[in-house]
Amino acid sequence: MTNPLSPFATDRAEQPRPAGRAQAAPAPVEPGLPLLICASHREPWTQRRVGHAELTVRTTGGLVTALDAALRRLGGRWIATGSEPRRSRAPEDEDGATYEVEQLGLTTREMDGYYSGFSNGVLWPLFHYFLGRVNFDAREWREYERVNARFAAAVARGLEESDGAVAWVHDYHLTLAPMMIRKLRPHARVGFFLHTPFPAFEVFRILPTRQQLLEGLLGADLVGFHTRSYRDAFLEAVQKLVGARSDRRGAVEYRGHRTRTLFSPIGVDVERLSALGQDPRTTSKAQRLRRSVPGDQIVLGIDRLDYSKGILERLAGFERLLERQPRYRGHVTLVQIAVPSRERISDYQRLKRDVDGAVGRLEGRYGDAAWSPVRYITRSFQPDDLAAWYRAADICLVTPLRDGLNLVAKEYVACRVDGGGALVLSEFCGAAEELTGAYFANPFGPDSIADALEQALTDDRMERERRMAHLREEVVGNDVHEWAQGFLRDLAQG
Ligand code: UDP
Ligand code: G6P
Repeated sequence: MTNPLSPFATDRAEQPRPAGRAQAAPAPVEPGLPLLICASHREPWTQRRVGHAELTVRTTGGLVTALDAALRRLGGRWIATGSEPRRSRAPEDEDGATYEVEQLGLTTREMDGYYSGFSNGVLWPLFHYFLGRVNFDAREWREYERVNARFAAAVARGLEESDGAVAWVHDYHLTLAPMMIRKLRPHARVGFFLHTPFPAFEVFRILPTRQQLLEGLLGADLVGFHTRSYRDAFLEAVQKLVGARSDRRGAVEYRGHRTRTLFSPIGVDVERLSALGQDPRTTSKAQRLRRSVPGDQIVLGIDRLDYSKGILERLAGFERLLERQPRYRGHVTLVQIAVPSRERISDYQRLKRDVDGAVGRLEGRYGDAAWSPVRYITRSFQPDDLAAWYRAADICLVTPLRDGLNLVAKEYVACRVDGGGALVLSEFCGAAEELTGAYFANPFGPDSIADALEQALTDDRMERERRMAHLREEVVGNDVHEWAQGFLRDLAQG
């Protein structure tokens, strides 16, 4: 697969991407970019008690990683759910950069209906093609509408307080907010970015409230997706379900309002991750981690505990490798970091039990006193510790069944300033369209995962380094700051 698209591609700018730079130059903030009022379900920071100390830690997920980096550079306000209504500031980074955080604080009933119910019991499985898990309930939909209205009101207040600011709404939790904001502030500029896939029309049309959702999004001036196929699926749905045809550039005219669309995969903070990757503290931590894991080679998986991530299938693929190639037993260890996620939802509770069981079976089958095939860790890490794992791993195994993009794959590559390591990547994530230097696997078959792993383990050093150099060009050439500024530039231009 090749991706000839620019890191920020509208139909106006579908040009071949310039070759990735070897070293990322920090994208300077363009003068004249508007102040940002962002909105997303997930709050960027939370309090965690460690011993007697109360620490402020970053929450887990690709959306937070990307927006936190962008808002530090651009400044503005981030409106999110949070556990209680509160205004604060994000902890300053080493350069003193920060931004405002406004938490709305939803009731349990709102959270159950809008978050666990409609967002994660309908839209998440539908958008990731898990149709058997979709469970529509009209009351939950109404709660979703109400919470979107709360977000829209908070964004409208933010726009009023900051002259010339623009609104940037994120992800499937808030698809109705763009139209609601437009009604409250008809002259405001409103952008929306979807961090998940947008599914093929035949899947999307299953949604009972499909028309309302599309109309909500069509309140935005600019709607962004990670890939061209997600964008095209959206345009097809718009045409077939609300009867609005898109023009050559992917813009739609609906009820007197024009919505432009674009596709632009999120990048990572290359400068920061390169610095982390080569920090002596990271490399010595990585050495300690290597020593703590028995065996010669580490295969690393890092995911939220989500069925879309294919953790069970990954364990089956790794087991198949050990079955087929006894020489790897005692030598290759899978380190699986699985961060608990959406724990109130029964599908997620069941998945946790299933993964616990599968790890236990694999350990029982192949483990002995000196070696265990899997090291399984169910808590989250902050970026500096993740960087040490990235540097310690010989192979990063990223095999979601479906994923809008997948930032872990890109972060791994960005941290490998040493040019070492190898990436095994699922065909079914948005990042597969960019990261052509990976070893590709189809996670729906354990043999395919085992084949890709075996290839990565047996290729000679030159081939692995060639692939990693290629991956690094791809990752370094598409930085998160360029992604954010590009979106805002486009939004402002209108
Ligand atoms: N992450 C983290 N701590 C962890 C595990 C993951 O901060 O212990 C971050 C990781 O660095 C990445 C994000 O969570 O930026 C996961 O993003 P990805 O796109 O891979 O998947 P998502 O969770 O958004 O579906
Ligand atoms: C994905 C979604 C984000 C979400 C994240 C973590 O990346 O696209 O919107 O924040 O998962 O999920 P959570 O339910 O914990 O917010």
